Amino acid sequence: MILGVNIDHVATVREARKTVEPDPVAAAFLATLGGAEGITCHLREDRRHINDRDLDLLRRTVSSELNLEMAATAEMVRIARKVKPDMVTLVPEKRQELTTEGGLNLKESGKLIRRAVGKLRSAEIAVSLFINPDKDDILRAVDTGADSVEIHTGRYANAMGPRRTRELQRVITAVEEAIRSGLSVNAGHGLDYHNVQGVAAIPGLRGLYIGHSIVSRAVLVGMTEAVREMRRLIREAGV
Ligand code: PXP
Repeated sequence: MILGVNIDHVATVREARKTVEPDPVAAAFLATLGGAEGITCHLREDRRHINDRDLDLLRRTVSSELNLEMAATAEMVRIARKVKPDMVTLVPEKRQELTTEGGLNLKESGKLIRRAVGKLRSAEIAVSLFINPDKDDILRAVDTGADSVEIHTGRYANAMGPRRTRELQRVITAVEEAIRSGLSVNAGHGLDYHNVQGVAAIPGLRGLYIGHSIVSRAVLVGMTEAVREMRRLIREAGV
């Protein structure tokens, strides 16, 4: 199972002072040394953390999978077709949110997403859709022509006690359904050093995309070590 490390919040610290450090490009390099098989960044409309310069440099320096999270807007599709990340993950984006709050609303914006998927795939960029663990959304995702989905694990990550077991089961069922539908399946959001193994043990998952917990740990122990620890936990979960 691959681990893609999201380095957005290294840029968040930089933007707190509008200076040049810490550099998310350096963090991506160190994450790779720690065992990350992919680097993810989210270029937001308001450029609140990752900016266009970061994306350009990441494209030139990341030798593993570069995954660009973005909204399905004309501006972002144009940028992605120019920069050519290995994969684009389409996410819903709200200006006021602290982080991506839920999966795509494919019922309402399926047509717009399908158009964006087509434009990205014609530029030879693999496309993943960030969706809630929901059967109807999996079927809608297939309809868009996307290569893969990333199942939102936020509700599992935030739940406590028996609710957490139910939320994990919901993720497991969604992974199974998405695989049966012929999609490649990833998962992410809210995963940390305590809850990652429940998801990492799901058979058939291609990869996990993790950001905030790794960057938080890296502030204390260093990026290479933070990724190494997460890599070990995923390996030990045993699929
Ligand atoms: N996957 C997607 C699609 C996301 O939007 C995010 C947050 O940027 C993540 C994974 C990582 O979530 P977290 O920072 O909670 O690990």
